[in-house]
Amino acid sequence: MAIRPVLRLGDPRLLQVASEVTDFNSAELDMLIEDMFDTMAAQDGAGLAAPQIGIGLRVVIFGFDDNPRYPDISAVPRTILINPQIIKISDEMEQGWEGCLSVPGMRGVVSRYKHIRYSGFDAAGNAIDVDASGFHARVVQHECDHLDGIIYTQRLTEPSKFGFTEELLSSGQLSSDGCSE
Ligand code: NI
Repeated sequence: MAIRPVLRLGDPRLLQVASEVTDFNSAELDMLIEDMFDTMAAQDGAGLAAPQIGIGLRVVIFGFDDNPRYPDISAVPRTILINPQIIKISDEMEQGWEGCLSVPGMRGVVSRYKHIRYSGFDAAGNAIDVDASGFHARVVQHECDHLDGIIYTQRLTEPSKFGFTEELLSSGQLSSDGCSE
C-alpha cells in the first residue's frame, strides 16, 4: 500500500499512449491497483489512470459514494477497468466542469457523450460491460482519455471556460467545487 506522486500537466509521460495489460491475476497488477486507490483517496479524487502515476498501462479506476459536498453528483460504483473500450449509445453531448489530479486546483468545461457503454476487464480478467450516463459517463471518458495521452485541457469547449477553482467559485461560475477527475 502506497500513495504515489501524481504527474502534473507538462510531464511528457502524460502524453504517451499506454499499453494493453496482458497479464491478469498477478500480484504486480493487484499492487498497482491498490496504490492507485490509495493515491486517489489521498487526493480525494473521483478517478485515476495508471499513466498519472507514471505507469504506462491501460488501467483506470474510478468511483465514489454519495457525498454531501457534491449534492448534484450521484454515486458512481467503485470500478477497476482494464483495457477499456467505449462506445457512444447516442450522439447526445453534454457540457460540464471537469478537474484532474494532474491539473490541481483548476476546472474547465468539456463536452462529453451523455450516454455510453464501456467494456473491459477487472484485475482477475473477468469481462465488464456497463451502460453509463451523466457524470458516470463523463468520468469514464475522462479517465480513458488518459490512456491515449489526452488531458481534458486539450478538449476545452472554449479557452475562457477554464480557470482556478477558487476564482470560478467566488465569481459564481462554479456552484460547488464539484469533483476532480
Ligand atoms: Ni484526469
